[in-house]
Amino acid sequence: KQQGSLYEAIGGRYVLDRLVDAFYSNVSNHPDLIPIFPEDLTETARKQKQFLTQFLGGPKHYTEEHGHPMLRARHLPFTITKTRAMAWLSCMEDAMDEIELEGPAREEIMQRLTMTARNMINTPED
Ligand code: HEM
Repeated sequence: KQQGSLYEAIGGRYVLDRLVDAFYSNVSNHPDLIPIFPEDLTETARKQKQFLTQFLGGPKHYTEEHGHPMLRARHLPFTITKTRAMAWLSCMEDAMDEIELEGPAREEIMQRLTMTARNMINTPED
């Protein structure tokens, strides 16, 4: 097990900000995700930067501003199928490729995001 947080391991705020920006650029172009995301992703990206920072062991900015994440509950208003969860994860993999995030930290982050994404599924496929 590595020392320190995954947040520090990937390079902190600078890398996380670039990852989230690349991710939402991909989301905004993904046909399976466009229907459920707002057109303007500025605020969504701002919250996701706060959330992923604390998810990876950095400062708890999300909870300070928004309270307990309750991620599954916050996603219930949206139709999240397995197809959409896979799309979300592929946008994240592509974002990691784009910013050239590599190595064991990447693998560990993707494992954790995969478990979380599975947990967000709230609707069977049509
Ligand atoms: C918000 C979709 C997985 C973290 C949202 C929103 C949508 C969405 C539509 C609302 C955007 C807005 O109105 O601003 C999805 C889909 C997923 C998924 C389709 C596929 C499984 C995840 C995962 C995480 C996550 C895995 C965390 C690792 C968040 C956060 C917010 C959010 C932090 C902002 C919540 C807030 O409003 O405070 N997501 N999401 N999502 N999502 Fe996801």
